Amino acid sequence: MSRKLRLTALAGALAMGLVACGGSGAGSGSSAAASAAPADLTIGVSMPTQTSERWIADGKAVKDQLESKGYKVDLQYAGDDIPTQGQQVDQMITEGADLLIVAAIDGTALSSQLQAAADAKIPVISYDRLIRDTPNVDFYVSFDNYKVGVAQGTALLVGLGVLNKDGSKGTATGPFNVELFAGSLDDNNAAFFFNGAVDTLKPYIQDGTIVVKSGQTSIEQAATLRWAQETAQKRMEDLLTSSYNDGSKVAGVLSPYDGISRGIITALQNAGYGQGSPMPTITGQDAEIASVKLIDDGVQSSTIFKDTRTLAAQAVTAAEAFLQGKKPEANDTKTYDNGQKVVPSYLLPIQTVYKDDIQKVLIDSGYWTADEVAKGQAG
Ligand code: GAL
Repeated sequence: MSRKLRLTALAGALAMGLVACGGSGAGSGSSAAASAAPADLTIGVSMPTQTSERWIADGKAVKDQLESKGYKVDLQYAGDDIPTQGQQVDQMITEGADLLIVAAIDGTALSSQLQAAADAKIPVISYDRLIRDTPNVDFYVSFDNYKVGVAQGTALLVGLGVLNKDGSKGTATGPFNVELFAGSLDDNNAAFFFNGAVDTLKPYIQDGTIVVKSGQTSIEQAATLRWAQETAQKRMEDLLTSSYNDGSKVAGVLSPYDGISRGIITALQNAGYGQGSPMPTITGQDAEIASVKLIDDGVQSSTIFKDTRTLAAQAVTAAEAFLQGKKPEANDTKTYDNGQKVVPSYLLPIQTVYKDDIQKVLIDSGYWTADEVAKGQAG
């Protein structure tokens, strides 16, 4: 329990006469903490960047949901700058945050801040990206990240016609030229996505259905620092120059995230794809609105939808449990070893979205409106 939480709990217990009479439950951490009013508790929410809509939506959803339960929220974005995030988290701690929810830029860069949090007994929830190399992370909320990769590899095969949507064998046999992109190596998720996708594609690479013409098949070669759109565009341009200047065409691109997909699309469009020659099959993740429009327009093939509203709700549920002195419920206690310990996790399900699924999965669920999809813009 943080100092403030302890004091608030003590005040609550005193007010109820529990301390004076030593009545049942007064001594247990949970009942004392439970009596701290949400209005007296502040939750620090540290998000990586506002350049991506998903993190804006995540921050807003977490803040709104916590505030609707009466908590105070200190929400900060770090502009994808590692020292800025460190300072913001430090400040949350010195200003007396009672709990932290953190989506790290670099999963290994917050150890000293989290030691300070542990010293002050502030519970830490790692949000979507696992914080690594510290024992001072108490819980992890995310999606099944390996399954995201499998879904991306599968969506690539479906787009190429090698598989049908129901998983049965499609009619296309290839060989197809495919290029592979990965996320930022300092984000623990990047390897989960890449491994899930490559494990799915491997048999098709081995039997020659898929050819990675550039030969760049390692995650280090495929990586995109900070998941940046411009970096992905530049790498796709370089790949076109180095490996496709003999008239051969790219048939598919594995992309782990919609922002990266948009960079890849720009490079391909600048090289004439989508006009003279068809757009390759391009995957994605996050159902960002600009990309949902590209899917609707037939430019991008698929995305993986991760409902940030449910992720935020899960983070709030876990936060409330900690603040009431309880342990949040985990549904995975094996997968997420952060180098120091296996962090108890709650993993949410994912959904692949092709053009045909936009209405049902994204519009009918209220995630985006039909108007937003048509404009390719939120709001
Ligand atoms: C990952 C996250 C993805 C995507 C990416 C880039 O950590 O799991 O959904 O958002 O960051 O922001």
